[in-house]
Amino acid sequence: MYVGVRAVASLCVVLCATGSLGLAISSTKTYDEIRAAIVDAEAGYGLGGKVFLNLDELRVDRTLRAMKKYELQSPERGLPAAGMHFFDAKPLIENSSIFGALKLMPKGAILHLHNSAAVSSSWVIKNLTYRQEAKLCHADDRYYFTVRPLNNCPESQTRPIADMRKERQKDVDAFDAWLETLINMKMKPSRNGHASIDELWADFESCFDAIKGFLQYKPFFEAYHRRLLHEFYQDNVYYIELRMSFAKVYDADGREYGAPEVAYMLYHISNDFRRQNPAFHGLKLILAKHKNISDAELEKALKLYENLSVTFPGFVVGFDLVGQEDLNRSLKSFASLLLQPPISSGPPKYFFHAGEIVGYFSEADENVIDAVLLDTKRIGHGYALMKHPILWHTVRRKQIVLEVCPISNQVLGLVRDLRNHPASIFVAQNIPITITSDDPGFWDAVGVTFDYYYAFMAIAPQAGLGFLKQLVWNSIRFSSLTDEERQNITSTMEKQWALFVSEMSKETNWES
Ligand SMILES: *[C@@H]1O[C@H](CO)[C@@H](O)[C@H](O)[C@H]1NC(C)=O
Ligand SMILES: *[C@@H]1O[C@H](CO)[C@@H](O)[C@H](O)[C@H]1NC(C)=O
Ligand SMILES: *[C@@H]1O[C@H](CO)[C@@H](O)[C@H](O)[C@H]1NC(C)=O
Ligand SMILES: *[C@@H]1O[C@H](CO)[C@@H](O)[C@H](O)[C@H]1NC(C)=O
Ligand SMILES: *[C@@H]1O[C@H](CO)[C@@H](O)[C@H](O)[C@H]1NC(C)=O
Ligand SMILES: *[C@@H]1O[C@H](CO)[C@@H](O)[C@H](O)[C@H]1NC(C)=O
Ligand SMILES: [Zn+2]
Repeated sequence: MYVGVRAVASLCVVLCATGSLGLAISSTKTYDEIRAAIVDAEAGYGLGGKVFLNLDELRVDRTLRAMKKYELQSPERGLPAAGMHFFDAKPLIENSSIFGALKLMPKGAILHLHNSAAVSSSWVIKNLTYRQEAKLCHADDRYYFTVRPLNNCPESQTRPIADMRKERQKDVDAFDAWLETLINMKMKPSRNGHASIDELWADFESCFDAIKGFLQYKPFFEAYHRRLLHEFYQDNVYYIELRMSFAKVYDADGREYGAPEVAYMLYHISNDFRRQNPAFHGLKLILAKHKNISDAELEKALKLYENLSVTFPGFVVGFDLVGQEDLNRSLKSFASLLLQPPISSGPPKYFFHAGEIVGYFSEADENVIDAVLLDTKRIGHGYALMKHPILWHTVRRKQIVLEVCPISNQVLGLVRDLRNHPASIFVAQNIPITITSDDPGFWDAVGVTFDYYYAFMAIAPQAGLGFLKQLVWNSIRFSSLTDEERQNITSTMEKQWALFVSEMSKETNWES
């Protein structure tokens, strides 16, 4: 680190001097030396630039860089997968050796994930809709999955999915594909590339509306969350912080379960899963309410948080507000209540979504300012932070991590080519980020590896293993784990990381 500082200082002598650079750099040798020093200093300055790599890791670093270079140099000089939209790039990514390596890599924790959008849509279709209780309701040109009649959808328009499928016996695959359009953005009309952000969000919210009814039925709720843990664990994720609204659940006998009982179900599922998979370190929950609420409703939500956090200390760990930012109330409009919530022990830990936005005209466009003022522990997205240079310093000084969700930002229309994602600036400025997947089930992804692919290939194309190592350890560092839990997951991660490095060391095809 000391060497880095010295290198930057001596560079400055040259680069910061006023007057002609040409005069200072009079020989080719000096030119090349200074140029190399700039490249080195930049690599050392950014996120992951100072991470220690042992000899094995250095070898893997060289391998990864060689793989990366090969993959980014597409032979036809067309777009590399890293520059393509995920819907088009997915088969290419799945076929890539970098993706294979990233899948194998232990990814630590996932810190930004919404429960009802976390599981792959194909599983929901192939598993839940094939159960005999599964029904579909049709109202006002919209379809909703459910088990019992919904308030917003008449019983007369609710049919068992098994009956519908029987009528389409000749083409069950097409029927299943159609069902999947209800919960998968890839299959929505707005995927044509010209949709506005409002249109994309309308489709996105329709996915939540469509699946909601299934997740209110206890057997489905439980199977779904078991599957959630399974999909992330298969993707080498060892711990998850899950945002959810704690909607009521009912069972086959019509018995209803309120928020504390729902939390208890997840507590059980998580513990069961840990017993079967000791490398997995569990689940914690963040209460996340939609922003389309009144002050009174927010007050109620905060009281619910208090109840849950007292009933499940260390399991229900924080509070968040969600929804399309520019169409909904700003954080500022909630600020007085959030600063002084009706909670005897004081404000919850906040994990606000903020700056998931490209506009710069409404009060909500400044949500990142309010999130920081309200003492958020992490920022969900923080995409708009690039437009707030003063806040960069605060965010870095207070070590508020940005939960960066590359594919989410692309699918929801903030940026089409992820090589232009502002996280490149955060990486260059060494502002802490963590990579996470937001709602992978709704866009044909699974787990988080696809997001890591874009982080590595599009956001930080010059980075190597040190960057990945920093991301993975950031995910643990900025989690809500207790000290003891942190120690335990750290020892698991160290073992898994060593296995990964040793596995990757066997890749000899890439040695130059
Ligand atoms: C996957 O990779 C193999 C080998 O590199 C190649 O032959 C094949 O065309 C690729 N498939 C796709 C879909 O890119
Ligand atoms: C759904 O998944 C569960 C758990 O893997 C499995 O036991 C069950 O048989 C599956 N059901 C269907 C209809 O595929
Ligand atoms: C608020 O948002 C939720 C979730 O999208 C939705 O179910 C509900 O109908 C909305 N309520 C209002 C009043 O807009
Ligand atoms: C939480 O709410 C439930 C009712 O939903 C109540 O029975 C319980 O006593 C409350 N717990 C606390 C700690 O307030
Ligand atoms: C919140 O945003 C949704 C779109 O995501 C919109 O339908 C709704 O009307 C907004 N609610 C409020 C209260 O502005
Ligand atoms: C940490 O691991 C030890 C040894 O496996 C175990 O006894 C302990 O309960 C774990 N602690 C937590 C908080 O998980
Ligand atoms: Zn989110």
